[in-house]
Amino acid sequence: MKPILEAAVEVRSHLGPDDERTLADDVLDGLTRPLKELPPKHFYDARGSELFDAICELPEYYQTRTERLILEANADEIAALTGAVELVELGSGSATKTRVLLDAMAAAGTLARYAPVDVSATTVHAVAELFAEEYPGLSVAGLVADFERHLAHLRKPLGPRLIAFLGGTIGNFTPGSRRRLLRSIGKVLGPGGHLLLGTDLVKEPRVLEAAYNDSAGVTAQFNLNVLHVVNRELGANFDVGAFEHVAFFDREQEWIEMRLRARAAQHVRVEALDLEVDFAAREELRTEISAKFTPERLCRDLAAAGMEIVARFTDPDERFAVSLARLA
Ligand SMILES: C[S@@+](CC[C@H](N)C(=O)[O-])C[C@H]1O[C@@H](n2cnc3c(N)ncnc32)[C@H](O)[C@@H]1O
Repeated sequence: MKPILEAAVEVRSHLGPDDERTLADDVLDGLTRPLKELPPKHFYDARGSELFDAICELPEYYQTRTERLILEANADEIAALTGAVELVELGSGSATKTRVLLDAMAAAGTLARYAPVDVSATTVHAVAELFAEEYPGLSVAGLVADFERHLAHLRKPLGPRLIAFLGGTIGNFTPGSRRRLLRSIGKVLGPGGHLLLGTDLVKEPRVLEAAYNDSAGVTAQFNLNVLHVVNRELGANFDVGAFEHVAFFDREQEWIEMRLRARAAQHVRVEALDLEVDFAAREELRTEISAKFTPERLCRDLAAAGMEIVARFTDPDERFAVSLARLA
């Protein structure tokens, strides 16, 4: 198929002043609950995105390198099975594994467009410029957007579309919102479209907990960064040094929970919300869940979103899985 001519690089943003409202709403809602909570998307300002990249390089954090190996071993098959002409990447971040897919699509002679989608404006701009330069003739259509709210703003597919959702990010959603998100992804797959979904797998708690409690303390800095974001964006006065990082595997839910624990009782004011919040000594604020999957859990979630698995790729130690799915 001859690709439609488009500008080589465009980045559109759907995040604006209203989205400080989203942070404000999440903080108001989350800090006034009996178990205080903030959604993980607010980690990712420029500093948070850098810290996440540093996490991906940590020896304990096996996810990134394992997912990369799986992609390297199977990208040609993925390109052949999907015949995809465009790659949409949700939560693309710095897109370090994406070249493996783009190279396979280029080798198959189908690659026409790449669309990174992320809440982090800096990473979307950087990746869009970089890939437009590295892949001559590739049209890059970046979206600075919230994939929970803005998927309808994707450009119309140029042909068979592959939506990659890597890094185990789907695990950051509780079961109900995970299915809702998968359903909304299903709606933008387009004719002949596929979803490529990276999921971390249930394994020994020791290995899982080490990945979120690295010895260099980078995950702790990443976790604490959300308090800096709230201080800066909403004029809060969290004493960041008075909180400590906590991460543990919840065996019943089969997910990792990250929390921030107040070392002592604290009173926090959030100026933009005219909100006063008290933390008791050792009280915890939940900042992330990261669900771990069994094949059954994933099949059930995909089926509930009207999708079926076409192929499942994993590493020899079954640490991580990359699944290719389509509408059933
Ligand atoms: C766990 S990182 C994964 C990054 C990359 N895909 C990888 O595999 O290494 C999650 C990424 O999703 C982005 N993100 C989180 N929530 C988002 C949302 N609601 N909408 C868009 N991007 C989001 C973050 O900014 C971050 O880049």
